Amino acid sequence: MVLSVSTQDLTSFNTLQLHSRTRALVRYISPAQLGDLSRLVDQYRHVFVLGGGSNVVLAEHLGCLVIKVESRGVRVFEHNDRELIIEAQAGEIWHDFVSLCVASGWDGLENLALIPGTAGAAPVQNIGAYGVELEQRFHSLSVWDLRDRKMLEMGPGDCKFSYRDSFFKRAEPGRWLITAVRFRLPKPWKPVLEYSDLKCYPALMAPTHAVTATQIFDAVCEIRRAKLPDPARIGNAGSFFKNPIVTVARYNAIKALYPGLVAYPQDKGLVKLAAGWLIDQAGWKGRRMGKVGVHDRQALVLINHGGANADDIALLARAVRSDVAARFGVQLEQEPIPVS
Ligand code: EPU
Repeated sequence: MVLSVSTQDLTSFNTLQLHSRTRALVRYISPAQLGDLSRLVDQYRHVFVLGGGSNVVLAEHLGCLVIKVESRGVRVFEHNDRELIIEAQAGEIWHDFVSLCVASGWDGLENLALIPGTAGAAPVQNIGAYGVELEQRFHSLSVWDLRDRKMLEMGPGDCKFSYRDSFFKRAEPGRWLITAVRFRLPKPWKPVLEYSDLKCYPALMAPTHAVTATQIFDAVCEIRRAKLPDPARIGNAGSFFKNPIVTVARYNAIKALYPGLVAYPQDKGLVKLAAGWLIDQAGWKGRRMGKVGVHDRQALVLINHGGANADDIALLARAVRSDVAARFGVQLEQEPIPVS
């Protein structure tokens, strides 16, 4: 299969809608291209594998080869009394995939509705929302090693998942091309309703056995739409910072000064703080800085008001981080991956 490499404006290929351009972009649509892709990659110093562009901060002029993942396909991989295993090709749009699963009665991914991006990118940052993290539903994935030209199958242990993190976020960037991801949906299905926004959602307050996956899917979509900006209308990359994890001692010290602090206990004497709350309290919610700003309904989301580039976002992120550090002594870690 012949590969075509072209220059490409990437402004509409990243959900922050940052001005960006690359001299070399190639589209991956089928495993038949993998051998040729590996040969192509050898000609470039740096490579970046791009999915839906929903968790990246793209520099204005990219010096790397961009592989845009656009392979499609969903199938039942395995089906027995205990579980259903569903496979998605990496370029499937995540929300479309979740919608298809719920509509097909393949329940278990509904809490992860409306997350922007692709199925192949989902394990990279171990996406999570409304009480479910991808790793809880993950079965395995296929990944092409672009350097050594071979396909590997990786299970949960190989992927080293943790909060918004995996092997792929830390390993050699540009070496791994995830081609397909498989999800294990246990039977019988059990609703996950522990997240506070779902607990008090009217349609979900029926006895647990009466709640359906479609109801949860609809509720999650509605809650997200009320809180988070639609990337098709306002450029954003979802949560721009991770919720910081601190020691109980540090948490107690902050809580003594700020009794309203929102936090979630973790294992091993650690506590996860709501970064949105910290940024909100630091006075950043709804503030604008030139072409960029902080969303007025969720302070964890940085937005592009139009025409911004990576430098604009970096300046804003630095200002927010430094105010939060000065006020609470907590360092915020950026979630989207910077690409140059
Ligand atoms: N809060 C504020 N002010 C704000 C924002 C939040 O006070 O401006 C408080 C809220 O009142 C709430 C708490 O902070 O008590 C947590 O807020 P929320 O429920 O919106 O969740 P989050 O911790 O800010 C995380 C994920 C989201 C995910 C939601 C729901 C991270 C970094 N973010 O946000 O993921 O949708 O939980 O599960 O973990 C994403 O990764 O892009 C993303 C949107």
